Amino acid sequence: MTQLTILRYPDPRLHTVAIPVTAVDARLRKLAGAMFEIMYEAAGIGLAATQVDVHERLIVIDVSESRDQPLVLINPAIVWASAETRVGDEGCLSVPGIYDGVERSIAVKVQALDLDGKLCVHSAEGMLAVCIQHEMDHLIGKVFVEYLSPLKRNRIKTKMIKQKKDEERDSVS
Ligand code: NI
Repeated sequence: MTQLTILRYPDPRLHTVAIPVTAVDARLRKLAGAMFEIMYEAAGIGLAATQVDVHERLIVIDVSESRDQPLVLINPAIVWASAETRVGDEGCLSVPGIYDGVERSIAVKVQALDLDGKLCVHSAEGMLAVCIQHEMDHLIGKVFVEYLSPLKRNRIKTKMIKQKKDEERDSVS
C-alpha cells in the first residue's frame, strides 16, 4: 500500500460517497492499521477512509485520553439516534486549525462489522457519539464545515487554499 495522506478541504475527493466494504480481509485490516497510524500521528480522534482517498465504508476511532482504545467500524449504520441534540465544537484532520459548532444527537446506537467481520452494536454518548456522527458524514462525502453558514464556509475555504499555497511555497524554498 502506498503511504496514506490525509485529504484536505476543499479537495473535491472529500465529497465522494463511499461504497460498502465487501470483504473483511487482510487488505482491509492493513488499511485500518495504516489509518490508525496516521490518525494517532496527527493527534486525531477519528478518521474515515474517505479522508485518505479510499472510498469504502470504514472508520477508525479512538476518543480515549490514553490513546489505547481503538474502535473500527466497518459498514456502519446508525440504528438509533437520540432526539435530544447539542451544539458542540468540532474539528477535523481534513480541515486543520478550524473548530466550530455543529448540532448532533447526544447519543447514538451504531451497528457495524469489526475487523473479524463480526456484527456489533455500539451504544455511544458524549464525544464518541459526536465522533461517530462526524466520521459517518465523511463516508457520504460530507465535511463538518458544510453545516456552517455559507459565509463561514467560504472563509474557511479561502484560508485552507492559502494555507496549502504557503506550505507548497515553503517546501520549495
Ligand atoms: Ni473529519
